[in-house]
Amino acid sequence: MSEPASLLFVGGSSGLEQRAEDLDFHIPETQGEGTVHGDHGRTRPAGQNRTRQRACGWGLYGLLGIARGDREKSRAYRATNYEFFGAPAGMVFTIDRQLELGSWLDYGMFLQSIMVAARGFGLHTCSEASIAEFPAIIRAQLGVPDDETVICGMALGYADPAAVINRFQPAREAVETFARFHE
Ligand SMILES: Cc1cc2nc3c(=O)[nH]c(=O)nc-3n(C[C@H](O)[C@H](O)[C@H](O)COP(=O)(O)O)c2cc1C
Repeated sequence: MSEPASLLFVGGSSGLEQRAEDLDFHIPETQGEGTVHGDHGRTRPAGQNRTRQRACGWGLYGLLGIARGDREKSRAYRATNYEFFGAPAGMVFTIDRQLELGSWLDYGMFLQSIMVAARGFGLHTCSEASIAEFPAIIRAQLGVPDDETVICGMALGYADPAAVINRFQPAREAVETFARFHE
């Protein structure tokens, strides 16, 4: 039986980290609405999801003192994604291209299990959709075969409680905004 998914560990002194500058080079200058990027055709969300995504992004950048339109600072911050935020270990997750939505649900549970288990060991994680935006680089550097889709990355290590970014806490939605109750 072939493995439905593979997990690639990227250590702190890995090529991926050393190639962070190259990765930064690939960040497009502009990404308009609906831009499709990455390995699995992820599109920018619309409507309230887009509103929430922007609120999260601008809240984060606000805390970091990155003003709207400050491309230099935002690119520099964005590049930290590709260094796994300085974590000692990074993971890149791929899935067999033939597997469909149900398996992606399974995969989400698998990811969350890793995150919960990490807490059990006193470790912290940050899942990183950003890693999946550059599948060609991941493929070249980690030898991911073409029949696997790069889903995301995840940083694994110990959160720095003194880091400003770790004070960021996005607003929580009231349950009524995403659940309908039928009596
Ligand atoms: C699927 C997924 C992908 C994410 N990708 C990134 C990422 O690429 N870069 C990043 O800085 N944070 C990423 N995050 C972390 C979010 O920024 C973080 O979850 C968000 O700030 C909301 O905080 P909360 O998890 O406390 O609600 C991701 C989170 C999830 C669930």
